[in-house]
Amino acid sequence: MSKLSIIIHPDPRLKKVASPITNITDRIKQLSADMLEAMYEASGVGLAAPQVGITKRLVVMDCSNEGEKKELILINPEIVWSSEENVSFEEGCLSIPDVREEISRPMSVQVQFIGIDNTRREEIFDGLWATCIQHEIDHLNGKLFIDYLGPMKRSSITRKMIKLKKQLNRKK
Ligand code: NI
Repeated sequence: MSKLSIIIHPDPRLKKVASPITNITDRIKQLSADMLEAMYEASGVGLAAPQVGITKRLVVMDCSNEGEKKELILINPEIVWSSEENVSFEEGCLSIPDVREEISRPMSVQVQFIGIDNTRREEIFDGLWATCIQHEIDHLNGKLFIDYLGPMKRSSITRKMIKLKKQLNRKK
């Protein structure tokens, strides 16, 4: 089992704006490795540090096809360009289990970030990778994908999650 547990919505820790990482310490390296482990274990394609209770601008993701494995660690990621064209994907979130909703976002984005080897990088993401990185950067800004939905739908999902959390607490 992974050392990290993933926070379920609603939780004030998922609403905070995360702070930039100034130093890539051994602790940050260990955290990235642990986050990747937790993400794969939960069969997710992306995970942001605030989801494990760390309010830092760190994201891990892997949107490759099954069996390929192409893990990516992004420190202080920032979108520097978005395409005008949007695309809709059915999104899910490890902090909102078993909920999937169609969300429309720019089809491609250009992202600047620092790699775990402390190099400055810039990459263009398309398709699922583009959706995923935008979803994860939202987490760093205290935003969830359900925030793009109407208030009725959003509060019904939140009620469902409150119920789920009660059930999970009972099992402990
Ligand atoms: Ni998420």
